[in-house]
Amino acid sequence: MTPPPGSVEEARLLLASELEEAVREAAARGGLLPADVQGLRVRWLGKKQGVVTALLTRLRDVPKDEKAAFGAGVNALKQEAEERLARLEAEAEARAAAAAEAAKAVDVTLPPRAFPTGRLHPLTVVRRRIEASFRGLGYEVADGPEIESDWYNFESLNFAPDHPARDAVDTFFVKGGGEGRDALLLRTHTSPVQMRTMEGRKPPIRVLCPGRVYRKDDIDPRHSPVFHQMEGLVVDEGITFAHLRGTLAAFARSFFGGRAEVRLAPTFFPFVEPGVDCAVSCVFCDRKGCRICSYSGWIEIMGAGMVHPNVLANGGIDPERYTGFAFGMGIDRIAMLVYGIPDLRLLFENDLRFLDRTW
Ligand code: PHE
Repeated sequence: MTPPPGSVEEARLLLASELEEAVREAAARGGLLPADVQGLRVRWLGKKQGVVTALLTRLRDVPKDEKAAFGAGVNALKQEAEERLARLEAEAEARAAAAAEAAKAVDVTLPPRAFPTGRLHPLTVVRRRIEASFRGLGYEVADGPEIESDWYNFESLNFAPDHPARDAVDTFFVKGGGEGRDALLLRTHTSPVQMRTMEGRKPPIRVLCPGRVYRKDDIDPRHSPVFHQMEGLVVDEGITFAHLRGTLAAFARSFFGGRAEVRLAPTFFPFVEPGVDCAVSCVFCDRKGCRICSYSGWIEIMGAGMVHPNVLANGGIDPERYTGFAFGMGIDRIAMLVYGIPDLRLLFENDLRFLDRTW
């Protein structure tokens, strides 16, 4: 028997079917949420337009003798709606809390997030490898300033006053940096560290000095106004050219591999006498000749020589008692060689497409 329209009984049946329908419909998306239940609460128990409120306002139209029963019916309905909604609400809240908890939980089956790691710059790798080769021979690493005076960079190293490197065309001078031997400049090589080392300690001396150097060169695939050198200096009693040769040969074998040989050819640097260019046998073609060694079988890697007596004297070392040798190589050039880097600029541009690999 269907209850009469507008009756409390009809409203109770509607309440039951509406809530069941809402639960059924929400099941597909994981169940009712607190906001859904709140919507139902407004519809049924809302103070202004709620169904229960609407029924109560009809109380005045109900015949006098039916008022008590009607009022009791509406109250019972209100109570029922409150209980059912409270239950749904509790369920929805528990569901929301569980979902929030699940969102926080770590899914240990997921693959790990990529974790970008830094890498050593190829110049750092090569510098450390060179240092390691010499450390085995008892060298220590020394340091010196990049802004030098004319004295340390040129004059004390026996450069003639009119040497072209002392020209502003070739060297970066610091504005307002003084005159003559006090003029300040960006060091053009690491050789001034020879002088600073000799001043600072007594023989025996065995040092390596890696560092940045500057020359007024235009940037191209083989030139840069900033590059890196590794200087070496040995001073002691009885040091001869044979020690220099043996040292360079040992370095070549340790750095380029056991078959590498060195070839020395006379050349001139003001701070050594005699001076030599040092070439290493091409490790890429085993001296047969290839593109890397320009089909000569040899690759020039450094300058070297016996420290000039004037330089020893300028460093406060008695050239009658002590002798020494020095060498200097370009770290960038060696890095380009061993890694087959075609363009010097790649070493300075910080492009991750170039840097991001294991050197
Ligand atoms: N300083 C020289 C240069 O920059 C290299 C060198 C160092 C040569 C030590 C001889 C001895 O070319």
